[in-house]
Amino acid sequence: MPEENPTIGPRTRFFDDSVVNAIRDGLRQITLVAAGMDTRAFRLPLPPDATIFELDQAEVLAEKQLVLDGLNARARCRRVVLPVDLQDERWKALLTDSGFDPSRPAVFVAEGLSAYLTEDQNTRLLDDLASLATPGRSRLAMDMLSRDYLENPAVQRFLELLADRGVPWRFGTNEPGPFLAGHGWRADVSNFDVVGRRFGRWPPPGVAEDVASRAAAASRNYFIRAERVLQ
Ligand SMILES: C[S@@+](CC[C@H](N)C(=O)[O-])C[C@H]1O[C@@H](n2cnc3c(N)ncnc32)[C@H](O)[C@@H]1O
Repeated sequence: MPEENPTIGPRTRFFDDSVVNAIRDGLRQITLVAAGMDTRAFRLPLPPDATIFELDQAEVLAEKQLVLDGLNARARCRRVVLPVDLQDERWKALLTDSGFDPSRPAVFVAEGLSAYLTEDQNTRLLDDLASLATPGRSRLAMDMLSRDYLENPAVQRFLELLADRGVPWRFGTNEPGPFLAGHGWRADVSNFDVVGRRFGRWPPPGVAEDVASRAAAASRNYFIRAERVLQ
């Protein structure tokens, strides 16, 4: 929710652009890793020969389908919905069995995910994605918290709230570039405030004081575009 998470404005645009740019550059496989309620398949100008793979937990995808059915929503391209547990290695086979071709370039979108995973889980996910990515051609777009953010006094109440809800934010690093490089990805890293200003979406307008102070703390978190390194 924007009033809870002031970074949603720039974030939506950043990931929209990652998908639109990939399509412009000829990529035709889009994989939403932890898609959640993402509706890019329905609202972005995707060509009919593209395929969008949506991965998430079964309950989330079922809930989403109810909403989409209620709206009679129609995807702009082929849409493949895959209930998975990303902690279970079998998701990769399910993806390839469903038509994803690792030999063709793809864009992977991991929006709003890394914070919920431990460092080990992030490491494994980056390795898994690298194993599905065409060297030199496949891309990854993701966001990442800084370690400084997780330790900032201004966000501790918010972090406690998330933990109380059973969805703690667990991971952040002040070195996202080297972290991705260690797992096969050459990263282009930008800070939230820089990207947000570019889009005219930062600082978040009209938010309460406590939200504004969290936004200030979040300003040095990261949006990342990465490319699978050539081997
Ligand atoms: C904050 S939501 C982000 C959703 C969407 N990408 C967005 O930005 O709106 C995090 C998502 O990660 C999914 N998720 C977390 N752990 C997962 C796992 N082990 N397997 C599959 N999905 C997972 C959750 O179900 C949830 O939909």
